Amino acid sequence: MPTPLVLVVGGAGYIGSHMVKLLLQQGCNVVTLDNLSTGYRDAVVGGEFRLADLADQPALGRLFTQHRFDAVMHFASFIQVGESVKEPAKYYENNVTNTLNLLNAMVANGVKRFIFSSSAAVYGNPHSVPIPEDHPKNPINPYGRTKWMVEQILEDYDHAYGLKSVSLRYFNAAGADPEGQLGERHEPETHLIPLILRAASGRAQDIKIFGRDYDTPDGTCIRDYVHVTDLCEAHRLALDHLLEGGASAAHNLGNGNGFSVAEVVNAAKRITGRDIKITEAPRREGDPPRLVADATRARKELGWQPRLNDLDAIINHAWAWERRSLGTS
Ligand code: UFG
Repeated sequence: MPTPLVLVVGGAGYIGSHMVKLLLQQGCNVVTLDNLSTGYRDAVVGGEFRLADLADQPALGRLFTQHRFDAVMHFASFIQVGESVKEPAKYYENNVTNTLNLLNAMVANGVKRFIFSSSAAVYGNPHSVPIPEDHPKNPINPYGRTKWMVEQILEDYDHAYGLKSVSLRYFNAAGADPEGQLGERHEPETHLIPLILRAASGRAQDIKIFGRDYDTPDGTCIRDYVHVTDLCEAHRLALDHLLEGGASAAHNLGNGNGFSVAEVVNAAKRITGRDIKITEAPRREGDPPRLVADATRARKELGWQPRLNDLDAIINHAWAWERRSLGTS
């Protein structure tokens, strides 16, 4: 097949920007579409950049008539669970309606391969861990519901329009570009590892531990942290799968290892050599005690082999990025 042309929607964001870099390194042609509502233009390291919003259907129409995309990867969504509870309209509009605009532009222009950033949030409070893909889907907040709604829409679009898709259900995306060029730049930041590292660097006073009374060995929540580079490699494999005529699928992306909040704080203390002040705080609403992936399917069907699958690598790369952001490395 000639060099694939991939549209990366949300390519100026955290995971999307790492994806653009990986695709370019692997010789793909890339167009990034982003409205820069949360992304950064300087995070897009190459390819064509198009500033537009998915709500702008004429702009989408122009983009799809100017380029014949082999596939679309969709990273653009709002991701804050708490905000989604307070402002569900914002989440349904952006994560569902705008995604429909994108899918409809694809169908209208005969583009039939789609890779979707889904989430472990589709499972809600799992009845057991590790969680396989066929675990019941009971999202417990609007954010998770938007991801599950899009997955269901994708099934219908495959059936009716032959649009093939791979939904990748991320567990806890973390880490940064091992070369130090890219990293996590959420504002406000809500994720555990970057917040711990802000406390380590002095950018924040402390790290708040949300709940010590969970039914886990040390009472703090357990999560499956997966390196952003490994997530991007799974997307590349999903792209190959679709380019080779593969069927639609959904895959969990996680390492299958759970770490508690307290364990992550301790690992960060060891790696940074800094004292990190801990403040005990109440539980955060909607946090399941344990989320750990069973990612056997991605390994078997996509051939996914996470290579940066240890917590130290994730924290090391995120720490290099934090220090670079502060100009101290
Ligand atoms: N936590 C703290 N203190 C903080 C921030 C987080 O104790 O300052 C805890 C949380 O309570 C949770 C764990 O650290 O137990 C991880 O929290 P994150 O916010 O980093 O990640 P989540 O597990 O809440 O969220 C991730 C994704 C979301 C997605 C969700 C699915 O980042 O986009 O998984 O459940 F919705």
